[in-house]
Amino acid sequence: MTLSTVGIDAISLSTPRAFLELADLAAKRGVPVEKYTSGLGAVRMAIAGPGEDPVTLATDAAARVIERAGIDPESIGMCAVGTETGIDHSKPVASYVHGLLDLPPSCRVFDTKHACFGGTAALMAACEWIASGAARGRRALVVCTDIARYALGSPGEPTQGAGAVAMIVSERPRLLEIELGRSGRYARDVHDFWRPLNRRDALVDGHFSVACYLDAFTGAFDEWRREEERRGGGDPLARVVYHVPYPKMAKKADRQRAKLEGLDDAAADARFAREVAPSLAFSAEVGNIYTGSLYMAVASLLHAEASALVGTRIGLFSYGSGCGAELFAARVAEGAGGFARELALDEPLRDRVRLGFDRYEAIRRADAEETPRAGVLDESLPCDRTAFLGIDAAERRVYRRARPASGTARIAPRASIVAAA
Ligand code: CAA
Repeated sequence: MTLSTVGIDAISLSTPRAFLELADLAAKRGVPVEKYTSGLGAVRMAIAGPGEDPVTLATDAAARVIERAGIDPESIGMCAVGTETGIDHSKPVASYVHGLLDLPPSCRVFDTKHACFGGTAALMAACEWIASGAARGRRALVVCTDIARYALGSPGEPTQGAGAVAMIVSERPRLLEIELGRSGRYARDVHDFWRPLNRRDALVDGHFSVACYLDAFTGAFDEWRREEERRGGGDPLARVVYHVPYPKMAKKADRQRAKLEGLDDAAADARFAREVAPSLAFSAEVGNIYTGSLYMAVASLLHAEASALVGTRIGLFSYGSGCGAELFAARVAEGAGGFARELALDEPLRDRVRLGFDRYEAIRRADAEETPRAGVLDESLPCDRTAFLGIDAAERRVYRRARPASGTARIAPRASIVAAA
């Protein structure tokens, strides 16, 4: 059995509580701020602080989407997490999320990894699982969660960020109906960006990584166009959403698309302003969140324009260094405008604090150099979000679920999830 409409039913973000203003970074690094704001298109970047890690970000995004979209947790039969910020060589981030949210035991739980493409691998697995009928009517929770770190003072530093995007994938989705089986794909074994097992910060061959992204876009776009022609075409894409390591990269990719279509530069710029720019607002505030970057751009687009786009077809381009890429299309569902408003997609961006530069450097240095001491749990972390308290004497990671505003404790009673006293 195959179902015709499967896709993203609901979406939510979470970001760390703090951000660094890129103007502050530019002043300290002796770089004109325009290089960041205009050259890269970024304004701020989210910085993960004490108690925040890929699990806490993922859990808070997932809890938000379940609550906001009115999902019965018992209906979730797959919990898949795309991440390249691994916290354990064996235990997946997804199993912590599954435990912290108290999802049903009858659930397929796993992580996917292919740099920033990992989230798309999870999303496609979920869509195809549901479309095949194997899900037997259950939904999937797909979460993309990452902390992007490059060495202090390196060219990559202004393109850091942190955050998670959680999506409910289901039949008859309320936001985006994904066109399965029509995508264009591309893969090539390259070393454009990598993070060896002993390192916290990523290594990157920056300009080569830009070239690899554009080559991958070309390859995926070529296959996508061939498939469109084979099927006799479809509606033109009203918007294209790209993987966004920094907003200017989406502009470069869109210029590449224009070149492949034979558009001149002026027409390409006008089309970019109309069809791509609305998806970049959240990224300019948060920075690169690797696996979630494409889906944060989807959220940004829906937040800005969902009502106007109902019934139209949009393109999504996912790129993961290493490298692998996929271009696919989705149709904006009936009612998506009102539903996107109910989801309040920008809410996590409203409630953040600005970090001073010295505090930023101190957080980054501590993060790079220190591994948590076994048996020391930090119970002083605020309770309004999920928190990573430390590792216990057996080197198990210990988390505490957020306490909702109502004051009712929602702390999962599991061995690796310890309640605050
Ligand atoms: N005013 C305005 N613009 C300025 C400027 C100024 N004063 N000074 C420089 N610029 C412009 C430059 O002209 C350039 O624009 P173009 O790209 O359009 O030519 C832009 O600012 C950046 O300048 P540089 O190329 O000199 O910057 P850089 O060499 O210091 O670093 C980078 C740029 C290579 C992207 C670096 O930030 C980096 O390594 N980032 C991490 C890797 C990355 O994000 N790669 C993207 C593709 S890989 C991917 O997508 C996977 C992933 O998520 C990591």
